[in-house]
Amino acid sequence: MSRILITSALPYINGIKHLGNLAGSMLPADVYARFKRARGDEVLFICATDEHGTPAELAAAKAGQDVRTYCAEQHDIQKSAGEAYGLSFDWFGRSSSTENRDLTQSFAQALEDNNLIEERVDRMIYSIDDGRFLPDRYVEGTCPHCKFEKARGDQCDNCGRLLDPTDLIDPYSSVSGSRNLEVRDTSHLYLLQTRVEPELRAWIDTKSDWPQLAKSIAHKHLEEGLIDRGITRDLSWGVPVAYEGTPRPGFENKVFYVWFDAPIEYIAATQEYFNQKGDPDGWKRWWRLDQGAEDVNYVQLMGKDNVAFHTVSFPATIIGSGQPWKLVDTLKAFNWLNWYGGKFSTSMNRGVFMDQALELLPADYWRWYLIAQSPEGSDSSFTWEQFQSTINKDLADVLGNFVNRIVKFTESKFGGIVPEGGEAGPLEQKLYADLSALLTEATEAFEAIEMRKAAQAVRRIWVLGNEYLQEAAPWTAFKTDPERAAVIVRHGLNLVRLYAVLSQPLIPFAAQTIADSAGLSLPQDWPTTDAQTELSKLTAGTTVKSGEVLFKKIEDDQLTTWAERFGGAEA
Ligand code: 2FM
Ligand code: ZN
Repeated sequence: MSRILITSALPYINGIKHLGNLAGSMLPADVYARFKRARGDEVLFICATDEHGTPAELAAAKAGQDVRTYCAEQHDIQKSAGEAYGLSFDWFGRSSSTENRDLTQSFAQALEDNNLIEERVDRMIYSIDDGRFLPDRYVEGTCPHCKFEKARGDQCDNCGRLLDPTDLIDPYSSVSGSRNLEVRDTSHLYLLQTRVEPELRAWIDTKSDWPQLAKSIAHKHLEEGLIDRGITRDLSWGVPVAYEGTPRPGFENKVFYVWFDAPIEYIAATQEYFNQKGDPDGWKRWWRLDQGAEDVNYVQLMGKDNVAFHTVSFPATIIGSGQPWKLVDTLKAFNWLNWYGGKFSTSMNRGVFMDQALELLPADYWRWYLIAQSPEGSDSSFTWEQFQSTINKDLADVLGNFVNRIVKFTESKFGGIVPEGGEAGPLEQKLYADLSALLTEATEAFEAIEMRKAAQAVRRIWVLGNEYLQEAAPWTAFKTDPERAAVIVRHGLNLVRLYAVLSQPLIPFAAQTIADSAGLSLPQDWPTTDAQTELSKLTAGTTVKSGEVLFKKIEDDQLTTWAERFGGAEA
């Protein structure tokens, strides 16, 4: 049994997330967490809302709410949405917690003690009309690298480069649109990343086994060269720049940069979790190398735009602190899930948000599609047509139909009881061999966090069952050789059991329904690769019971309505 710490990138607090956000970190992280739990590992799965910085302030202002109230409301909304999708976080925290405030301040203090923080006078963009500095997303303009015209002050969404607001060409205020800007002096703290560069490089060099996308982005950022980064901002909402309750002189009206405190929340959220459990030291065995975290395997999942912060900035904070913190072992990054090749956009009515999707169909339909089409090797595009065909084929025709057919047949011919008698024949021997190979493939893919491959292998196992049933034809055998029919039905029902177990990480709600029909309670241990043994676990005499249709097919007219409401090919 291993101990696995899993974190998903923290969703920004600025409104409910769209399916692209779900597909790019929280959902695959959940699938992996569920898989590892089924494997018998001790899993701690942590996420939280990322509540500071300009995204929060701007969204609260737009909603006409004070930022504290806004964050509290939006946190609850995102938490419920996650639960509705079956996201099995052990804790869904808040980066505005007191735990994160204290820990962020203590990291900054440690960095100061190690001479890795320097106060510098910056020339920052000040908006005369807005009467304030415009950090990060408060300013937009043209990217100096790729000339994208709507680059944000902190990062260009087009080329992915991290930016400084003053890099932007032709900047304007994103609050008022005003171009009446000037550059003014203001003091900020800089984290001297250049000083930890050798250690950082040495650490990344040990990560040659990371999935390709994460590794290539990490190296790209190192090759571009590290720079010292400003870790404070002229904002009022955030972690105050203070140590042990005393503001750092000159920083009374400033806070730490959101990207400084957000990753620290991975640790602080773990503290929130254990504090709430009444075990205030419990978090240490997950995060402190001197207190039991050496044998933790730490896996982070995130969208590709987050990789720089997790391979450079956050590790620089941790390494620079000189304290024995756990660093990430495996970083899995995802490309974008697009909407018909373009970006999801609320204002342009393109794309579906997590809450809206559930008005249309149950969570498992979305989970399956988003994992089966996971933006892993490259960006992928959501289309209604592909969604319909994936659901109808994989879930309705292949999985749902199999379970329904064999359970109903058992009810009509064997009184709903797993029948006994008979010996496995050549068809069963072939089934064992094919199934063993696919179980190995599926398990290896889940272990490697290769979501598309894993879903595909599970799907092929569903197809295998259909092929077996088709070929073995228990309905024909029943007429002439009831004992042979019993063998086939027993294997078919064991496949139903196996499908419930294999489906747990991917479509947990349907997995429960399938398990119910086989009189099984979940969670169940992940199957071994010994197919013969796996197909004998549901023993003769067990009662099975058909239920409601597992998956309804998506009809063309539903698709038309949804495309009108949320945008489709023509949008
Ligand atoms: O890009 C984002 O959505 C960020 N809120 C991710 C933060 S991840 C972490 F470091 F907190
Ligand atoms: Zn750019």
